[in-house]
Amino acid sequence: MPNKDAVIVILAAGKGTRLKSSLAKVLHPAGGRALVESVVRACLPLGAKKIVVIVGHQAEEVTAAVAPLGAEVVLQQPQHGTGHAMLVAKRAIGNAKMTVVLPGDAPLVQTETLKALIATHRSGKASATILSAVVADPSGYGRILRKAENSVAAIVEDSQLTAEQRELNEINSSIYCFSTDKLWPALARVKPENKHREIYLTDAIAVLALKGETVLAQIAPDSREVLGCNTRADLAGVDRIFRERKLEELMSAGVTIQLPETVLIDPEVTAGEDTVLEPCVQLLGKTKLGERCVIRTGSVLNDAILGDGVTVEPHTIITESRLDDGVIIGPFARLRPGSHLKKGAKVGNFVEMKKSVIGEGSKVPHLSYIGDTKMGSHSNIGAGTITCNYDGVNKFPTTIGNRVFVGSDSVLVAPVKIGDGAYIAAGSAITENVPPNALGLARSRQTTKPGWAAKKRREQAASFPKKKSVRKKARSRKPRSRRKR
Ligand code: UD1
Ligand code: MG
Repeated sequence: MPNKDAVIVILAAGKGTRLKSSLAKVLHPAGGRALVESVVRACLPLGAKKIVVIVGHQAEEVTAAVAPLGAEVVLQQPQHGTGHAMLVAKRAIGNAKMTVVLPGDAPLVQTETLKALIATHRSGKASATILSAVVADPSGYGRILRKAENSVAAIVEDSQLTAEQRELNEINSSIYCFSTDKLWPALARVKPENKHREIYLTDAIAVLALKGETVLAQIAPDSREVLGCNTRADLAGVDRIFRERKLEELMSAGVTIQLPETVLIDPEVTAGEDTVLEPCVQLLGKTKLGERCVIRTGSVLNDAILGDGVTVEPHTIITESRLDDGVIIGPFARLRPGSHLKKGAKVGNFVEMKKSVIGEGSKVPHLSYIGDTKMGSHSNIGAGTITCNYDGVNKFPTTIGNRVFVGSDSVLVAPVKIGDGAYIAAGSAITENVPPNALGLARSRQTTKPGWAAKKRREQAASFPKKKSVRKKARSRKPRSRRKR
């Protein structure tokens, strides 16, 4: 591993006052992940000795976000600035030759850019190398003050700029490589001389430059990579860039995306060749789509696993469920967690399903609720059928065999079993098991009374008072001008 002599430090202890949020800044999501998680992920392939995340605000929650990725945490409490955060990390950094520093709120940085920065630092034998960027609007960022083409004199924070310095458009990304043995003596000389009384890591740069140490700044090839998230508007901008990256990834893998600017896809989603996403689709979590699927407009899939050739008609919601090859679902269907539609099954409009298995080629085409149900293959469930799985306290299962036909508007009161090849008469309330090949009929017999309706109408007509004529009523109204206002 090339970077085993380096420790990576990610600064993530701040509150993020400018976001006006009860959630710590680095836990805010952009592109489907917490900011700090994206930063850790960009660092993982560098193969450093360790990744240390400085935590403070909502330390437990931030730890929960980064520990599963193998990062170690150090508590900075209270937070006295980015330089203070580094001092707190001193023990964790130990004797590592190089210290790579990143802010936890700039999540777009890519591994390749970090590799290039480290390479420049090594080949330039620098004490510090800053990743900078040239931007159209530098406001809010620290500015790089160069003393010669290739070396840096200082970083000046936005709040401390002179009018002349305000024109500088090369900004500090807050991503740096330090030679660890040069960092500590420089930081020791930094004083909290700013309006927040904080120790700024940026001030260590001027200390090094004044001592005659080599301080380099490498300009990021794409300035968007260093965007920090200090405000809600920053978050929205960064989220958009992440989403665009993901859309491009899927399109180059052979997925058609119509009006891509309306489609939202989380980072871990995958999709096979020739799959088509219509406008306003959301693919979330760990959703995986096979080849030749069509996901029509307005559908939201979260942790959904789809085989090949699956059609999801408009406005369908699928959560934590599996759809095998050739399934057709929707429009306006909802699969709640734990549902599995086997090969060629069809679930139609206004059907809600929870924790249920629908066998091969079976159909639930219209207006049903199916919960805690196991259904065999090639069965057909009539419109409006409801499985009554809940008695107000407990949930009970319904079992439906193969080639069962359930007539429309039936209720199946669980626990109940319908055997293979059975029929359920329309409108039945089934409370007992129905054996294979039997007919289950549970509704009252129809009574028909000839002429009853006509007689009723005659009686009603005779008893109604005669209506006043409409014309007379209109004449009795006062003229408009004399009405009260
Ligand atoms: C910082 C830089 C600025 C740079 C910008 C790039 C300083 C003083 N300024 O400003 O030059 O242009 O980043 O985005 O470094 N943090 C801690 N402990 C603290 C304070 C902050 O861990 O005591 C963390 C924050 O959680 C955040 C990161 O450090 O993730 C940067 O802090 P932030 O307040 O966002 O600094 P900026 O004002 O953006
Ligand atoms: Mg910031």
